[in-house]
Amino acid sequence: MQTIIEPFRIKMTEALPITTRKLREARLASAQYNVFLLNAEDITIDLLTDSGTGAMSSRQWAALMMGDESYAGSISWQHFEQTVREITGLKHIFPTHQGRAAERILAATRLKAGDVVPNNSHFDTTRANIEYVGALAEDLLTAEGKDIYSDKPFKGNMDTAKLEQLIKAHGVKRIPFCMITVTNNTGGGQPVSMANIVAVKKILKKYGIPLVIDCCRFAENAYFIKKYEPGYGGKSLTKIAQEMFALADAAVMSAKKDGLANIGGFFACNNDAWADDFRNLLILTEGFPTYGGLAGRDLEVIAVGLREALEYDYQHYRHATVEYMSSRLIARGIPIVRPAGGHAVFLDAAGFCSHLKAGEYPGIGLVNALYLEGGIRAVELGSVMFGRVDAATGKETPAPRELVRLAFPRRVYTQSHFEYVIEVLDGIWKHREAIPPYRITKQAPFLRHFTAHFAQSGSKVAKRSRKR
Ligand SMILES: Cc1ncc(COP(=O)(O)O)c(C=O)c1O
Repeated sequence: MQTIIEPFRIKMTEALPITTRKLREARLASAQYNVFLLNAEDITIDLLTDSGTGAMSSRQWAALMMGDESYAGSISWQHFEQTVREITGLKHIFPTHQGRAAERILAATRLKAGDVVPNNSHFDTTRANIEYVGALAEDLLTAEGKDIYSDKPFKGNMDTAKLEQLIKAHGVKRIPFCMITVTNNTGGGQPVSMANIVAVKKILKKYGIPLVIDCCRFAENAYFIKKYEPGYGGKSLTKIAQEMFALADAAVMSAKKDGLANIGGFFACNNDAWADDFRNLLILTEGFPTYGGLAGRDLEVIAVGLREALEYDYQHYRHATVEYMSSRLIARGIPIVRPAGGHAVFLDAAGFCSHLKAGEYPGIGLVNALYLEGGIRAVELGSVMFGRVDAATGKETPAPRELVRLAFPRRVYTQSHFEYVIEVLDGIWKHREAIPPYRITKQAPFLRHFTAHFAQSGSKVAKRSRKR
Protein backbone atom coordinates (compact mmCIF):
# COMPACT_ATOMS: atom_id res chain seq x y z
CA MET A 1 0.00 0.00 0.00
CA GLN A 2 1.30 3.47 -0.95
CA THR A 3 -1.13 5.62 1.00
CA ILE A 4 -0.42 6.13 4.67
CA ILE A 5 -3.82 6.60 6.28
CA GLU A 6 -4.83 8.18 9.58
CA PRO A 7 -4.82 5.19 11.95
CA PHE A 8 -8.11 6.33 13.50
CA ARG A 9 -11.61 7.32 12.47
CA ILE A 10 -13.52 10.36 13.69
CA LYS A 11 -16.28 9.97 16.27
CA MET A 12 -16.99 13.58 17.13
CA THR A 13 -16.62 16.75 15.08
CA GLU A 14 -16.06 20.40 15.88
CA ALA A 15 -17.20 23.10 13.44
CA LEU A 16 -14.50 25.30 11.90
CA PRO A 17 -15.22 29.02 11.55
CA ILE A 18 -15.20 30.11 7.89
CA THR A 19 -14.56 33.86 7.85
CA THR A 20 -14.34 36.66 5.28
CA ARG A 21 -11.22 38.67 4.45
CA LYS A 22 -12.98 41.83 5.68
CA LEU A 23 -13.65 40.31 9.09
CA ARG A 24 -10.08 39.01 9.34
CA GLU A 25 -8.67 42.45 8.54
CA ALA A 26 -10.76 43.99 11.31
CA ARG A 27 -9.91 41.26 13.81
CA LEU A 28 -6.16 41.42 13.13
CA ALA A 29 -6.14 45.19 13.53
CA SER A 30 -7.99 44.88 16.87
CA ALA A 31 -5.45 42.22 17.90
CA GLN A 32 -2.66 44.77 17.28
CA TYR A 33 -1.33 42.55 14.47
CA ASN A 34 -0.34 39.87 16.97
CA VAL A 35 -2.12 36.58 16.23
CA PHE A 36 -1.68 35.48 19.85
CA LEU A 37 -4.24 38.18 20.68
CA LEU A 38 -6.90 36.88 18.26
CA ASN A 39 -9.94 34.97 19.46
CA ALA A 40 -9.88 31.31 18.39
CA GLU A 41 -13.43 31.68 17.02
CA ASP A 42 -11.96 33.90 14.25
CA ILE A 43 -9.47 31.24 13.09
CA THR A 44 -10.15 28.57 10.50
CA ILE A 45 -7.02 26.41 10.71
CA ASP A 46 -5.07 26.88 13.92
CA LEU A 47 -1.42 25.87 13.53
CA LEU A 48 -0.20 28.17 16.29
CA THR A 49 1.07 25.24 18.30
CA ASP A 50 1.05 21.47 18.68
CA SER A 51 1.02 21.99 22.44
CA GLY A 52 -2.14 20.89 24.21
CA THR A 53 -4.15 21.18 21.00
CA GLY A 54 -4.40 17.48 20.12
CA ALA A 55 -7.51 15.31 19.94
CA MET A 56 -7.82 12.68 22.63
CA SER A 57 -8.58 9.07 21.80
CA SER A 58 -11.66 7.21 23.03
CA ARG A 59 -9.31 5.33 25.40
CA GLN A 60 -8.16 8.64 26.86
CA TRP A 61 -11.72 9.91 27.29
CA ALA A 62 -12.63 6.64 29.00
CA ALA A 63 -9.58 6.96 31.29
CA LEU A 64 -10.58 10.55 32.08
CA MET A 65 -13.85 9.28 33.53
CA MET A 66 -11.86 7.03 35.86
CA GLY A 67 -9.99 10.01 37.35
CA ASP A 68 -9.46 9.61 41.08
CA GLU A 69 -9.56 13.09 42.57
CA SER A 70 -8.15 12.16 45.99
CA TYR A 71 -5.80 14.87 47.17
CA ALA A 72 -2.96 12.49 48.00
CA GLY A 73 -1.88 9.09 46.65
CA SER A 74 -4.71 8.69 44.13
CA ILE A 75 -5.05 5.67 41.84
CA SER A 76 -4.64 8.05 38.90
CA TRP A 77 -1.28 9.16 40.31
CA GLN A 78 -0.23 5.51 40.51
CA HIS A 79 -1.16 4.97 36.84
CA PHE A 80 0.74 8.10 35.89
CA GLU A 81 3.81 7.23 37.95
CA GLN A 82 3.93 3.62 36.68
CA THR A 83 3.77 4.75 33.06
CA VAL A 84 6.36 7.50 33.40
CA ARG A 85 8.68 5.15 35.32
CA GLU A 86 8.27 2.36 32.75
CA ILE A 87 9.21 4.72 29.91
CA THR A 88 11.90 6.86 31.60
CA GLY A 89 13.26 4.47 34.24
CA LEU A 90 13.88 7.56 36.44
CA LYS A 91 13.56 7.22 40.21
CA HIS A 92 11.61 10.31 41.32
CA ILE A 93 8.60 11.49 39.35
CA PHE A 94 6.66 14.71 39.91
CA PRO A 95 3.63 15.85 37.92
CA THR A 96 3.46 19.54 37.04
CA HIS A 97 0.70 21.56 35.40
CA GLN A 98 2.82 21.93 32.24
CA GLY A 99 6.41 21.83 31.01
CA ARG A 100 7.46 25.32 32.06
CA ALA A 101 6.44 24.65 35.68
CA ALA A 102 8.97 21.80 35.73
CA GLU A 103 11.55 24.10 34.09
CA ARG A 104 10.87 26.90 36.56
CA ILE A 105 11.27 24.70 39.65
CA LEU A 106 14.37 23.04 38.19
CA ALA A 107 15.93 26.46 37.48
CA ALA A 108 14.94 27.88 40.89
CA THR A 109 16.32 24.89 42.81
CA ARG A 110 19.50 24.13 40.88
CA LEU A 111 20.74 27.41 39.36
CA LYS A 112 22.16 30.66 40.65
CA ALA A 113 23.22 33.88 38.97
CA GLY A 114 26.27 33.39 36.75
CA ASP A 115 25.65 29.67 36.12
CA VAL A 116 25.62 28.37 32.56
CA VAL A 117 23.25 25.80 31.00
CA PRO A 118 24.23 24.34 27.61
CA ASN A 119 21.56 22.83 25.35
CA ASN A 120 21.33 21.95 21.65
CA SER A 121 18.71 24.76 21.52
CA HIS A 122 16.77 26.11 24.45
CA PHE A 123 13.06 26.52 23.92
CA ASP A 124 11.82 30.03 24.75
CA THR A 125 10.30 29.12 28.13
CA THR A 126 13.38 27.09 29.10
CA ARG A 127 15.66 29.98 28.22
CA ALA A 128 13.41 32.48 30.02
CA ASN A 129 13.31 30.39 33.21
CA ILE A 130 17.10 30.00 33.20
CA GLU A 131 17.64 33.70 32.55
CA TYR A 132 15.07 34.65 35.18
CA VAL A 133 17.39 33.29 37.91
CA GLY A 134 20.36 35.13 36.36
CA ALA A 135 21.96 32.13 34.65
CA LEU A 136 23.13 31.94 31.04
CA ALA A 137 21.38 29.69 28.47
CA GLU A 138 23.82 28.59 25.76
CA ASP A 139 22.75 26.99 22.44
CA LEU A 140 25.29 24.55 20.99
CA LEU A 141 23.72 23.32 17.77
CA THR A 142 26.05 21.79 15.18
CA ALA A 143 26.96 23.87 12.10
CA GLU A 144 24.90 21.41 10.04
CA GLY A 145 21.88 22.03 12.27
CA LYS A 146 22.15 25.75 11.59
CA ASP A 147 22.06 25.27 7.82
CA ILE A 148 18.33 25.34 7.28
CA TYR A 149 18.49 23.96 3.75
CA SER A 150 20.73 20.94 4.42
CA ASP A 151 18.81 17.66 4.06
CA LYS A 152 20.98 15.77 6.57
CA PRO A 153 19.19 13.79 9.27
CA PHE A 154 19.61 14.61 12.99
CA LYS A 155 20.10 18.34 12.62
CA GLY A 156 19.03 18.70 16.26
CA ASN A 157 22.37 17.26 17.42
CA MET A 158 24.55 19.13 19.88
CA ASP A 159 28.06 20.14 18.85
CA THR A 160 30.10 18.02 21.28
CA ALA A 161 33.36 19.91 20.60
CA LYS A 162 31.63 23.17 21.54
CA LEU A 163 30.24 21.51 24.66
CA GLU A 164 33.70 20.53 25.83
CA GLN A 165 35.04 24.02 25.03
CA LEU A 166 32.21 25.60 27.00
CA ILE A 167 32.87 23.38 30.03
CA LYS A 168 36.57 24.31 29.93
CA ALA A 169 35.82 28.01 29.46
CA HIS A 170 33.29 28.34 32.31
CA GLY A 171 34.43 25.54 34.63
CA VAL A 172 32.39 22.60 35.91
CA LYS A 173 31.20 24.47 39.03
CA ARG A 174 29.28 26.97 36.93
CA ILE A 175 27.44 24.26 34.97
CA PRO A 176 24.98 22.56 37.36
CA PHE A 177 23.48 20.60 34.45
CA CYS A 178 23.39 20.33 30.68
CA MET A 179 20.19 19.93 28.67
CA ILE A 180 19.31 18.31 25.38
CA THR A 181 15.98 18.99 23.69
CA VAL A 182 14.34 16.20 21.70
CA THR A 183 13.20 17.04 19.11
CA ASN A 184 14.64 20.52 18.72
CA ASN A 185 11.51 22.67 18.54
CA THR A 186 13.36 25.96 18.11
CA GLY A 187 15.46 24.65 15.23
CA GLY A 188 12.84 23.16 12.95
CA GLY A 189 11.66 20.16 14.99
CA GLN A 190 14.84 18.38 13.99
CA PRO A 191 15.74 15.17 15.85
CA VAL A 192 18.74 14.26 17.97
CA SER A 193 20.43 10.93 17.26
CA MET A 194 21.06 8.35 19.94
CA ALA A 195 24.76 8.48 19.02
CA ASN A 196 24.78 12.21 19.80
CA ILE A 197 23.05 11.76 23.18
CA VAL A 198 25.61 9.01 24.00
CA ALA A 199 28.49 11.32 22.98
CA VAL A 200 27.10 14.24 25.03
CA LYS A 201 26.62 11.96 28.03
CA LYS A 202 30.19 10.65 27.74
CA ILE A 203 31.60 14.18 27.96
CA LEU A 204 29.30 15.15 30.83
CA LYS A 205 30.19 12.00 32.76
CA LYS A 206 33.87 12.86 32.49
CA TYR A 207 33.18 16.20 34.22
CA GLY A 208 30.44 14.98 36.57
CA ILE A 209 27.74 17.18 35.00
CA PRO A 210 24.17 15.78 35.01
CA LEU A 211 22.16 15.53 31.78
CA VAL A 212 18.56 16.79 31.76
CA ILE A 213 16.50 15.83 28.72
CA ASP A 214 13.73 18.19 27.62
CA CYS A 215 11.62 15.31 26.36
CA CYS A 216 8.38 17.00 25.16
CA ARG A 217 8.63 15.20 21.81
CA PHE A 218 10.52 12.08 22.89
CA ALA A 219 8.27 9.70 20.90
CA GLU A 220 8.64 11.72 17.68
CA ASN A 221 12.39 11.70 18.24
CA ALA A 222 12.31 7.92 18.81
CA TYR A 223 10.55 7.51 15.45
CA PHE A 224 13.32 9.45 13.67
CA ILE A 225 15.95 7.26 15.36
CA LYS A 226 14.10 4.11 14.27
CA LYS A 227 13.81 5.39 10.72
CA TYR A 228 17.25 6.92 10.15
CA GLU A 229 19.79 5.68 12.69
CA PRO A 230 21.62 2.46 11.83
CA GLY A 231 20.83 -0.40 14.21
CA TYR A 232 17.45 0.91 15.37
CA GLY A 233 15.12 -0.18 12.54
CA GLY A 234 14.09 -3.37 14.35
CA LYS A 235 13.52 -1.80 17.78
CA SER A 236 10.16 -0.63 19.10
CA LEU A 237 9.68 3.07 19.82
CA THR A 238 9.28 2.25 23.52
CA LYS A 239 12.64 0.43 23.59
CA ILE A 240 14.32 3.35 21.82
CA ALA A 241 12.77 5.86 24.26
CA GLN A 242 13.92 3.73 27.21
CA GLU A 243 17.44 3.59 25.81
CA MET A 244 17.45 7.38 25.48
CA PHE A 245 16.16 8.00 29.01
CA ALA A 246 18.76 5.56 30.41
CA LEU A 247 21.32 8.24 29.46
CA ALA A 248 19.50 10.97 31.40
CA ASP A 249 19.90 12.03 35.02
CA ALA A 250 16.64 13.96 34.85
CA ALA A 251 13.89 14.96 32.42
CA VAL A 252 11.47 17.85 32.00
CA MET A 253 8.32 17.11 30.05
CA SER A 254 5.39 18.98 28.62
CA ALA A 255 2.72 16.28 28.32
CA LYS A 256 0.85 18.65 25.98
CA LYS A 257 2.99 17.25 23.17
CA ASP A 258 3.87 13.55 23.27
CA GLY A 259 1.66 12.99 26.31
CA LEU A 260 -1.22 13.55 23.84
CA ALA A 261 -2.95 15.53 26.58
CA ASN A 262 -4.43 19.02 26.66
CA ILE A 263 -2.56 19.93 29.84
CA GLY A 264 0.19 18.52 32.04
CA GLY A 265 3.86 17.84 32.41
CA PHE A 266 6.39 16.31 34.73
CA PHE A 267 9.88 16.41 36.16
CA ALA A 268 11.75 13.18 36.81
CA CYS A 269 15.21 12.60 38.23
CA ASN A 270 17.49 10.08 39.91
CA ASN A 271 19.23 12.34 42.42
CA ASP A 272 17.60 12.26 45.90
CA ALA A 273 18.73 15.78 46.85
CA TRP A 274 17.38 17.21 43.59
CA ALA A 275 14.09 15.43 44.26
CA ASP A 276 13.84 16.82 47.81
CA ASP A 277 14.39 20.40 46.64
CA PHE A 278 12.01 19.97 43.72
CA ARG A 279 9.31 18.46 45.95
CA ASN A 280 9.48 21.32 48.45
CA LEU A 281 8.99 24.01 45.84
CA LEU A 282 6.39 21.93 43.98
CA ILE A 283 4.25 21.81 47.14
CA LEU A 284 4.62 25.56 47.54
CA THR A 285 3.68 26.53 43.99
CA GLU A 286 2.00 23.62 42.15
CA GLY A 287 0.44 21.22 44.64
CA PHE A 288 0.95 18.01 46.58
CA PRO A 289 3.57 15.79 44.87
CA THR A 290 1.06 13.16 43.76
CA TYR A 291 -0.95 15.64 41.68
CA GLY A 292 1.40 18.62 41.10
CA GLY A 293 -1.24 21.04 39.84
CA LEU A 294 -3.16 18.50 37.78
CA ALA A 295 -6.55 16.86 38.31
CA GLY A 296 -6.61 13.08 38.75
CA ARG A 297 -8.36 12.82 35.38
CA ASP A 298 -5.44 14.64 33.70
CA LEU A 299 -2.99 12.12 35.20
CA GLU A 300 -5.10 9.28 33.72
CA VAL A 301 -5.22 10.93 30.30
CA ILE A 302 -1.43 11.41 30.25
CA ALA A 303 -0.79 7.81 31.34
CA VAL A 304 -2.74 6.57 28.31
CA GLY A 305 -1.42 9.28 25.97
CA LEU A 306 2.25 8.55 26.63
CA ARG A 307 1.73 4.96 25.51
CA GLU A 308 -0.34 5.95 22.46
CA ALA A 309 2.41 8.36 21.37
CA LEU A 310 4.78 5.40 21.23
CA GLU A 311 2.53 3.39 18.85
CA TYR A 312 4.36 2.95 15.58
CA ASP A 313 1.31 3.41 13.30
CA TYR A 314 0.46 6.70 14.94
CA GLN A 315 3.99 8.09 14.55
CA HIS A 316 4.21 6.75 10.98
CA TYR A 317 1.06 8.64 10.00
CA ARG A 318 2.07 11.79 11.90
CA HIS A 319 5.46 12.03 10.21
CA ALA A 320 3.82 11.35 6.84
CA THR A 321 1.56 14.41 7.24
CA VAL A 322 4.52 16.70 7.94
CA GLU A 323 6.45 15.20 5.04
CA TYR A 324 3.44 15.59 2.75
CA MET A 325 3.16 19.32 3.37
CA SER A 326 6.95 19.81 3.23
CA SER A 327 7.35 18.09 -0.12
CA ARG A 328 4.45 20.05 -1.67
CA LEU A 329 5.92 23.38 -0.49
CA ILE A 330 9.44 22.49 -1.69
CA ALA A 331 7.97 21.57 -5.11
CA ARG A 332 6.56 25.12 -5.33
CA GLY A 333 9.93 26.65 -4.44
CA ILE A 334 8.69 27.89 -1.05
CA PRO A 335 11.68 28.11 1.31
CA ILE A 336 11.30 25.83 4.33
CA VAL A 337 13.61 24.23 6.86
CA ARG A 338 14.73 20.85 5.58
CA PRO A 339 14.31 17.97 6.08
CA ALA A 340 10.75 17.81 7.45
CA GLY A 341 10.70 18.02 11.25
CA GLY A 342 8.59 15.94 13.59
CA HIS A 343 5.76 18.25 14.57
CA ALA A 344 5.74 21.20 12.20
CA VAL A 345 6.75 22.77 8.94
CA PHE A 346 9.07 25.73 9.47
CA LEU A 347 8.98 28.40 6.77
CA ASP A 348 12.11 30.48 6.21
CA ALA A 349 10.51 33.91 6.52
CA ALA A 350 13.75 35.72 5.64
CA GLY A 351 13.95 33.78 2.34
CA PHE A 352 10.20 34.12 1.76
CA CYS A 353 10.22 37.90 2.35
CA SER A 354 13.60 38.72 0.79
CA HIS A 355 12.31 42.25 0.08
CA LEU A 356 12.25 42.96 3.84
CA LYS A 357 15.32 44.02 5.79
CA ALA A 358 16.46 42.63 9.14
CA GLY A 359 14.53 44.45 11.81
CA GLU A 360 11.36 44.60 9.71
CA TYR A 361 10.10 41.34 11.25
CA PRO A 362 9.51 39.23 8.13
CA GLY A 363 8.14 36.44 10.32
CA ILE A 364 5.35 38.67 11.62
CA GLY A 365 4.63 39.78 8.05
CA LEU A 366 4.27 36.16 6.91
CA VAL A 367 2.22 35.09 9.95
CA ASN A 368 -0.18 37.99 9.40
CA ALA A 369 -0.43 37.27 5.66
CA LEU A 370 -1.42 33.66 6.46
CA TYR A 371 -4.20 34.91 8.69
CA LEU A 372 -5.42 37.59 6.31
CA GLU A 373 -5.38 35.32 3.25
CA GLY A 374 -6.70 32.10 4.74
CA GLY A 375 -7.67 32.47 8.39
CA ILE A 376 -4.63 30.31 9.24
CA ARG A 377 -2.77 30.97 12.48
CA ALA A 378 0.96 30.27 12.62
CA VAL A 379 3.72 31.52 14.91
CA GLU A 380 6.89 33.53 14.40
CA LEU A 381 10.11 31.95 15.68
CA GLY A 382 12.43 34.75 14.70
CA SER A 383 13.57 38.10 16.01
CA VAL A 384 10.39 38.82 17.94
CA MET A 385 10.65 35.56 19.87
CA PHE A 386 14.43 35.23 20.06
CA GLY A 387 15.86 38.70 19.33
CA ARG A 388 17.82 40.21 22.23
CA VAL A 389 16.91 43.68 23.47
CA ASP A 390 19.56 45.52 25.49
CA ALA A 391 17.71 46.78 28.59
CA ALA A 392 19.93 49.87 28.90
CA THR A 393 20.02 51.06 25.29
CA GLY A 394 16.91 49.40 23.85
CA LYS A 395 19.10 48.23 20.95
CA GLU A 396 17.96 44.99 19.41
CA THR A 397 20.11 42.13 18.12
CA PRO A 398 18.07 40.09 15.62
CA ALA A 399 17.72 36.30 15.96
CA PRO A 400 20.02 34.18 13.77
CA ARG A 401 17.00 32.86 11.86
CA GLU A 402 13.60 34.23 10.90
CA LEU A 403 11.29 31.21 10.94
CA VAL A 404 7.53 30.80 10.90
CA ARG A 405 6.23 27.57 12.35
CA LEU A 406 3.13 25.79 11.11
CA ALA A 407 2.68 23.36 14.00
CA PHE A 408 0.51 20.28 13.50
CA PRO A 409 -1.91 19.60 16.34
CA ARG A 410 -2.00 15.84 16.93
CA ARG A 411 -4.88 13.87 15.30
CA VAL A 412 -6.84 17.08 14.54
CA TYR A 413 -6.63 18.09 10.87
CA THR A 414 -7.08 15.90 7.80
CA GLN A 415 -5.37 15.92 4.43
CA SER A 416 -7.84 18.39 2.86
CA HIS A 417 -7.05 20.89 5.62
CA PHE A 418 -3.39 20.58 4.71
CA GLU A 419 -4.23 20.95 0.99
CA TYR A 420 -5.97 24.20 1.88
CA VAL A 421 -2.94 25.48 3.81
CA ILE A 422 -0.68 24.64 0.84
CA GLU A 423 -3.04 26.51 -1.53
CA VAL A 424 -3.12 29.61 0.71
CA LEU A 425 0.67 29.61 1.05
CA ASP A 426 1.07 29.22 -2.68
CA GLY A 427 -1.08 32.35 -3.22
CA ILE A 428 0.94 34.36 -0.69
CA TRP A 429 4.23 33.16 -2.22
CA LYS A 430 3.18 34.37 -5.68
CA HIS A 431 2.51 37.89 -4.29
CA ARG A 432 5.10 37.85 -1.50
CA GLU A 433 6.39 41.37 -2.22
CA ALA A 434 3.07 42.66 -0.90
CA ILE A 435 3.96 41.49 2.62
CA PRO A 436 4.63 44.72 4.55
CA PRO A 437 7.33 45.42 7.17
CA TYR A 438 6.22 45.62 10.80
CA ARG A 439 7.49 47.42 13.88
CA ILE A 440 6.83 46.82 17.56
CA THR A 441 4.77 49.48 19.34
CA LYS A 442 4.55 47.79 22.77
CA GLN A 443 6.43 44.92 24.39
CA ALA A 444 6.98 43.10 27.70
CA PRO A 445 10.47 42.47 29.17
CA PHE A 446 10.09 38.64 29.01
CA LEU A 447 8.55 36.42 26.31
CA ARG A 448 7.45 39.55 24.45
CA HIS A 449 6.04 37.63 21.47
CA PHE A 450 2.95 36.61 23.46
CA THR A 451 1.69 40.13 24.11
CA ALA A 452 3.60 42.55 21.85
CA HIS A 453 1.68 45.06 19.74
CA PHE A 454 2.72 45.65 16.12
CA ALA A 455 2.02 48.20 13.41
CA GLN A 456 2.78 48.15 9.71
CA SER A 457 5.69 50.48 8.97
CA GLY A 458 5.90 53.28 6.44
CA SER A 459 3.58 54.71 3.84
CA LYS A 460 4.98 52.48 1.06
CA VAL A 461 3.31 49.63 2.89
CA ALA A 462 -0.19 50.84 2.48
CA LYS A 463 0.40 51.23 -1.28
CA ARG A 464 1.95 47.77 -1.56
CA SER A 465 -0.96 46.18 0.28
CA ARG A 466 -3.57 47.99 -1.79
CA LYS A 467 -2.07 46.77 -5.08
CA ARG A 468 -3.03 43.19 -4.24
C1 LIG B 1 10.91 22.00 23.57
C2 LIG B 1 9.94 22.59 24.54
N1 LIG B 1 10.28 22.70 25.83
C3 LIG B 1 9.42 23.20 26.74
C4 LIG B 1 8.16 23.64 26.38
C5 LIG B 1 7.24 24.24 27.43
O1 LIG B 1 6.13 23.43 27.69
P1 LIG B 1 4.74 24.05 28.18
O2 LIG B 1 4.18 24.83 27.07
O3 LIG B 1 3.93 22.84 28.54
O4 LIG B 1 5.02 24.88 29.37
C6 LIG B 1 7.77 23.56 25.05
C7 LIG B 1 6.43 24.04 24.63
O5 LIG B 1 6.14 24.29 23.49
C8 LIG B 1 8.69 23.01 24.09
O6 LIG B 1 8.37 22.89 22.80
